[in-house]
Order: sequence, then structure tokens, then C-alpha cells
Amino acid sequence: NKSQAWSARFSEPVSDLVKRYTASVHFDKRLAHFDIDGSLAHAEMLASIGIISEGDRISIERGMGRIREEIDAGGFMWSLDLEDVHLNIEKRLVELIGDAGKRLHTGRSRNDQVATDIRLWLRNEIDVCLGLLRDLRRKLAELALKHAATILPGFTHLQVAQPVTFGHHLLAYAEMFGRDAERLADCRKRVNRLPLGAAALAGTSYPIDRERVARTLGFDGVCRNSLDAVSDRDFAIEFCAAAALIMTHISRLSEELVLWMSPRVGFIDLADRFCTGSSIMPQKKNPDVPELARGKTGRVNGHLVALLTLMKGQPLAYNKDNQEDKEGLFDSADTIRDTLTIFVDLVGGIRVKSEAMRAAALQGFATATDLADYLVKKGLPFRDAHETVAHVVRMCDERGCDLADLTLEELKGINDLVEDDVFDVLTLEGSVASRKHVGGTAPERVKEEAQRVLDETAG
Ligand code: ARG
Repeated sequence: NKSQAWSARFSEPVSDLVKRYTASVHFDKRLAHFDIDGSLAHAEMLASIGIISEGDRISIERGMGRIREEIDAGGFMWSLDLEDVHLNIEKRLVELIGDAGKRLHTGRSRNDQVATDIRLWLRNEIDVCLGLLRDLRRKLAELALKHAATILPGFTHLQVAQPVTFGHHLLAYAEMFGRDAERLADCRKRVNRLPLGAAALAGTSYPIDRERVARTLGFDGVCRNSLDAVSDRDFAIEFCAAAALIMTHISRLSEELVLWMSPRVGFIDLADRFCTGSSIMPQKKNPDVPELARGKTGRVNGHLVALLTLMKGQPLAYNKDNQEDKEGLFDSADTIRDTLTIFVDLVGGIRVKSEAMRAAALQGFATATDLADYLVKKGLPFRDAHETVAHVVRMCDERGCDLADLTLEELKGINDLVEDDVFDVLTLEGSVASRKHVGGTAPERVKEEAQRVLDETAG
């Protein structure tokens, strides 16, 4: 079987099923351009130390240029017989340029080659995602700035807790996505190390210049141990963990969007382009996009567990198990890329129904804590204040009114420490305005924080 790179050793061909089972070309061909980048850097280094001639290097560059064009034009013939992206490209190179193509693999193995390709590809994905996270944080901050003073009920246990500003609520997500960006940037440091030179596992006897290859490919340094270099997939696991957290944050936001868009809540409306109708119920406008994002979080979480499990039993160094690292990793990257791209637009298109938010905040005695704090400031111990306000809440509940609807006389009747400045804190505006410390929900703070996020994400 002459088509396989390792054929001479074997006396019988593999079955079609085994061929399909062991092949990866149908998914790893997306690494093609990074594979070529890596090969060109390797060839350049081989020429610089005289392992291949300058003429060979030029032929390799020309051949690879042609292969890139064929791939981009969709004319490249991918073959399952050639197992993976690396062997497909190498075979075509030999077809195009002959012996120079056969010299390219000197001092290299597919084991360090594939590790290099994935790192190059992932570095690019991380950079795209960092840009998208920045855009999403900007959209959140822009909307937060507009709604720095819009009040809605803040919930704990999904029960009305205390009034908060909508801008503050949105900026909570800007914080989450900010941490996600930090995590990706940190992961990138460990992605950006060059495995090439480790060869199959033990390094190579050629006097290679790994630092040179690292510089050419934009790596910050080289992997320091050849066994680790070919078998380490920590960087991919870290990325999957960061991706799972991104989706988890997207999923929490999605859950709120779905809830807020329910007619029973009615806090927001999503642009039509993110919703679909029902085939039977003519009145429906369903928030499909956030629901699907919530659902897709499951698969991204799954990829993290799959990759951890893939690694846990592997002895040093490279094992073919590692070929299974790619599909989940690719899918995680694709899912967060698509999801973030859509959410940048989706957040920009949220229509806020401020009146409904305000009306909801007026139900459920959201300022009860403010009344208790007021009594404390007038000298009552907090536990007594808590008890007193519980009585007031019960009274209002029976009458079907809000705390702010009680008269000064009624409030004085409950505790004579109350004076007419009590209404400053019983109102929603008074309540949020008083929380003006760093991290608080006061409109002035929200404006500052939104501006900070906008400055941080500018350019
Ligand atoms: N397709 C393989 C992978 O994804 C490339 C390395 C294969 N090396 C080997 N000796 N079989 O990991």
C-alpha cells in the first residue's frame, strides 16, 4: 500500500472501517494553514543550519504556496488513505516538488507537528475571542450607561429583595466577561510555546535551532521537555475550561433574558432577528437564541470533561488518544465564537421597558431593608429595627399598599423615631442613590463603572 507514509513495514492493508476509525483528516484539515506555517518555519530553520539546501527551501515555499491556493480554492484532494492533514499536505508537496518535499520532515515528527498546529490555531481562536469579549463588554457598558438610573427589583431566591439599577445589573455581566478575558489571556501564555523540535518524543540528533522557529512563528518560547512537548494538552484543557465558564456566564444571562421577556415579567423585548414564531400558535415570539445558548452550554461543559478524561490515563509520551483532542476543542471554540458574535448584536438590540421594571420594583416591599437601616441610624438596634419593619410590611400587605404609601403619622405610630426624612429612603430612587460606595448600585456609581469599562475596552 504505497499511499501510506509508513507502508513498507506492513504486510496487509487496514480495513476500510479501521481506516475511517483511525483517520482524522475530515476534521483536522481545518489546521491546514497552520500546518503549512509550521512547515515553512521548520524548512527555513533546516536551511539556516545547512540540513537542507537553500534551493530545497525555495521549492518547499513555492510548493506550499501552491497548496495553499488549492486549499483556498476548494480544489485540494483530501484523501482518507493519507490519514490526517499532515500526511495529505506532505504527499501533495512531494507530488509538486519531488525530493525537496521528502526532505521537509527531517528532524520532525507528526507528534511535535500536530502539537504545534493546534497551538497556532488555538492562539488565533483566543485572539478572536478576546476581541469578541471586549465588544460584548462594550455593548453591556453602553446599555448600562443609558440605564444607570433605571430601577428594577433585585432578586435573591427569585423573590423581590432590594431595588437595583438596571445598569448595575448589566455591569455584573461585564465583570464576568472581564474575568473570562483575563482567563483566556492567561491561558494564551501557556498555549504560546513551541513544541516543534521534540520530534516523536526524544528530540532529534540534528543541530536544530528551536528558538529561531519559535521566533518565526511568534511563540514566546519553546517547550522545555521533549516528552512533555508532544504529550501536553493542558493548554487545550485550560481553554475548554475558560470556554465552559464563558458559556456558563452566557447561559445565566440567557436565563434572565428569557425570564425578562416572558409576558408575565415584561422587562425587555428582544429584537425580532433573535426570535422565532410558533408553527401552531400565531401569537408567539420565542427567545430561541438565548434558549439555544443556554442549551449549547451543555456541550461545551461536556468537551471539558471529555478532554480531562482523555488525558488522565495516558503514559508519557504521545499516544494516539490525543487525536481525540480536536473535535471537542474545535467545537468549544466554534460555539463560543458564534455565541459571542451573536450576543454582541443581541445585547445591542435589547429594548428596555423601564416602566414595567419600575412597577415590579414597587411590589414586594423592596425598600424594607432601607426602612430598617433608617431606624438603626436613628438609634434603634438592628435586630429591633428588623422586627419593627416586619410588622410594617405585614400591615402594608394586609392593606395592599407599598411602604411609601403609609403616612408619616402611621409610620410614627409604629416607632416615634420616624421623621419626615423617612421618605427619602422609602422611595426606590432614595434607596439606590444611598448605595454609592465602590461596587454599589447608585446611578452615579454605575455611570462611573460603565465609563471605566468603556475606557478599558476602547480601541
Ligand atoms: N493525527 C495525529 C493526531 O492528531 C497526528 C500525530 C500522529 N502521530 C502518530 N505517530 N500516529 O494526533
